[in-house]
Amino acid sequence: MEEKAQQTFELTDPVRGRSAQLPVRNGTIGPAALDIAAIHKELDVFTYDPGFGMTAATESRITYIDGDAGVLLYRGYPIEQLAQKSSFMEVAYLLLLGELPTAKQLTEFTGNIRYHTMINESLLRFFNGFHHNAHPMAMVSAVVASMSAFYHDTMDIHNPRHREIFSHRIIAKLPTIAAAAHKHSLGQPFIYPRNDLDYAGNVLNMVFAVPCEPYQVDPIASQALDLLFVLHADHEQNASTSTVRLAGSTGANPYAAISAGVSALWGPAHGGANEAVLALLEQIGSVDNIPKYLAMAKDKASHFRLMGFGHRVYKNFDPRATIIRAMCHKVLERLGRTDNPLFELALRLEEIVLKDEYFVSRKLYPNVDFYSGVIYSAIGIPRSMFTVMFAIARTVGWVAHWLEMISDPGMRIGRPRQLYTGATRRDYVDVKKRG
Ligand code: SDX
Repeated sequence: MEEKAQQTFELTDPVRGRSAQLPVRNGTIGPAALDIAAIHKELDVFTYDPGFGMTAATESRITYIDGDAGVLLYRGYPIEQLAQKSSFMEVAYLLLLGELPTAKQLTEFTGNIRYHTMINESLLRFFNGFHHNAHPMAMVSAVVASMSAFYHDTMDIHNPRHREIFSHRIIAKLPTIAAAAHKHSLGQPFIYPRNDLDYAGNVLNMVFAVPCEPYQVDPIASQALDLLFVLHADHEQNASTSTVRLAGSTGANPYAAISAGVSALWGPAHGGANEAVLALLEQIGSVDNIPKYLAMAKDKASHFRLMGFGHRVYKNFDPRATIIRAMCHKVLERLGRTDNPLFELALRLEEIVLKDEYFVSRKLYPNVDFYSGVIYSAIGIPRSMFTVMFAIARTVGWVAHWLEMISDPGMRIGRPRQLYTGATRRDYVDVKKRG
């Protein structure tokens, strides 16, 4: 079959009369990418893209987003179908291994995760070093990083079996560490994972159970949590995933890379937004106050942002927000909390924002974080744990991207360049001669 000619873009420097042929790399769907590796050698320039808004940092086969069409695919499967038909364990298998599992593969994978949920008892003592009011995200990122001190036997990142064991351990233990952080902040005893519960059920049990009475997992809450985990599992090269890739690209151990991802997710512009949305809804308090907050959001001097709205990639509805909004209704109905004032306020806020020219012109739609907090609070998750729930789910995506990067023979350490605008060369001045 005739080799397809390599498509190139020509870039010309009219001042110095030089040009470069930049190869075009085509993906399976979505925009092609210009390979600019030769641009400095041939034209003595860098590209400039603060925030990497238009830069493909890597090739990936895991997740695809079409921001204009509001499309999200996990390994090619639409998020709407996975939300309706799949489970978090099945989605975890899909994201990590690339294909939907057979029933036998899913049973084996789920068993591998289930039998790694306990953490070393010494790790539990780490929590006593935190003050009771430490934010759970601070505890989770610290304890995850310390896991590398326990698993010396499986830290060879070039050993596929070590990578597999790491994947099972971190996905299995994140909920246990998360729940332990919550119990520490309450001053309550740690609750061990149970092998008779599924993944989401175990999270609820470890967060809510107390030793002095039996705890019954609410199937509605467990189903809602499992769906939230599916929706939060991965999202291309978002800030925390890019952090995991960059940290992992140095050859740092995978626990350190995941801990870096937890820290990046914590920011209110990223995964911390779900906690910030609840605070915002409580701050707004009533529909009458919405205009005041919209005005603040439009006033650049206020540095105030309407949390839960806007997205770097989605310039249409975030498909996850649409699914969560629909789920809100169902969960609140089934929990008998349809009069949830925060949900009513969220619906009215969304309605008003989507008619407001400032937001419409900037294509600022509700994102995944806008409604998730309403569901977390309806099933009893405390607000300080909302981003921790996000981290539990996104650990699957972080691991999938770390595995994809580390197993790529062409992997190189990430090292962006810069546009220097500082002082030009100058000589040292002795302190006696200064000012
Ligand atoms: C997540 O990347 C991912 O995929 C992330 C995520 C994932 O699954 O990993 O989807 C999860 O992080 C969702 C986003 C959660 N964050 C928030 O809800 C925080 C509030 N939103 C923003 O701060 C903001 O919208 C971002 C950070 C999400 C996106 O910021 P961008 O792409 O850098 O957009 P921008 O700051 O350049 O804004 C463009 C314009 C600006 O106004 P102008 O300068 O054009 O006049 O829109 C304005 C911004 O001021 N704007 C907002 C706004 N978001 C953007 N104005 C008011 N309120 C907002 N929320």
